[in-house]
Amino acid sequence: MFLKEITIKNFRNFNDLSLNFDSRINIFVGENGAGKTNLLEAIYFLGISKSFRTNQDKQLIKFDEVELFLNGKILKENTETQINISFTINNEASLQKKVRVNNKALTRIIDLIGQLKVIVFSPEDLEIVKGSPAIRRRFLDIELSQVSPNYLYNLQRYLKIIKHRNQILSIIKRNRGLDLRELDAWNDQLVETGIPIIRKRQELLNELNPLINEIYHQIRGLPQEIKINYKPCVVEEDFREKLEIKQEDEIRQETTLIGPHRDDISFYINDINARYFASQGQQRTIAICLKLAELQYQYLQTQESPILLLDDVTSELDEAKREALLNFVSKDINKANLQVFITTTDVAELSPDFVKDACIFKVKQGEIHHQTAKNLL
Ligand SMILES: Nc1ncnc2c1ncn2[C@@H]1O[C@H](COP(=O)(O)OP(=O)(O)OP(=O)(O)O)[C@@H](O)[C@H]1O
Ligand SMILES: [Mg+2]
Repeated sequence: MFLKEITIKNFRNFNDLSLNFDSRINIFVGENGAGKTNLLEAIYFLGISKSFRTNQDKQLIKFDEVELFLNGKILKENTETQINISFTINNEASLQKKVRVNNKALTRIIDLIGQLKVIVFSPEDLEIVKGSPAIRRRFLDIELSQVSPNYLYNLQRYLKIIKHRNQILSIIKRNRGLDLRELDAWNDQLVETGIPIIRKRQELLNELNPLINEIYHQIRGLPQEIKINYKPCVVEEDFREKLEIKQEDEIRQETTLIGPHRDDISFYINDINARYFASQGQQRTIAICLKLAELQYQYLQTQESPILLLDDVTSELDEAKREALLNFVSKDINKANLQVFITTTDVAELSPDFVKDACIFKVKQGEIHHQTAKNLL
């Protein structure tokens, strides 16, 4: 699978542009603030109709404009798929997102997932190691949704059930005539939708562990063991019992305290918790390796490589690791037909071997021009 072409209108600092991409390596070079990350954000948005930088879609519309438009052409085994996303701010400043695949309007955004599989690494991904549990759950959910639409469907159901259940807890607290049997019915649904989430997350981590270990070795060049531990809020067998134990607390706090919406994962380097004790460089390396492990996982699951977006990856690593990372990515390009999009402020930070076959784009104040490698090296 690769993204052949993109057309962008009024997205961030882009007015109107159309680009053709290389099926292997695409490099975007430009100064700070030129629009490099914006372009990766547009590509990512075509894949999952969400940004990796913001939850507020309206921030994506170019200042002073009301309508945004993205079009992507994807080539998969000689078949072309077109994705079209647009949205408009209407008078009440609310958004109406429209998604079309091959000119057919999708009624559910969930049906978009999987058309263009994307993995992004950006400097913010350090937060997966360092930040709050919600960021790590988001990582798990996006990852699992891309390989399993059922996971996403079930997750959406689960989150709706929590919302309703919390309302029920509130009503019970205020003694508005609901008896506890009503809560029982919601407990059934919570457990029924919660268990597949716990299972899938555990399965994913089992698969990611050997992959991330291998990649970390190759990039760090050190025999350190890296481990991702699943810290579920509750295990399958105890789910019901814990709900009963916590029932009083839940009613008092009017919120669901037990379930995978409270899960977490931790990263360990040689049994040391990286969130608290690893250096910033180590944390970054873990985050990058995690994304590369994710890529391999998706490839193993679906025999298809997602496209890889690497934002500012070189500025965060020393030369040896940069080289090792690019070597690793190059291997995947050859082995798994991987398409890569990479941003940098200075093309000299990328190894000449990597650059020589690439398609290079110069980004400047919201304009993008194709350049040959020869002009830059
Ligand atoms: N909605 C928007 N409308 C117009 N311009 C925007 C919008 N959102 C962001 N920008 C502009 O986009 C620019 C930032 O682009 P971007 O983050 O892609 O830069 P970059 O090339 O990745 O820079 P760096 O090298 O610092 O990461 C800023 O100048 C910002 O003002
Ligand atoms: Mg940037």
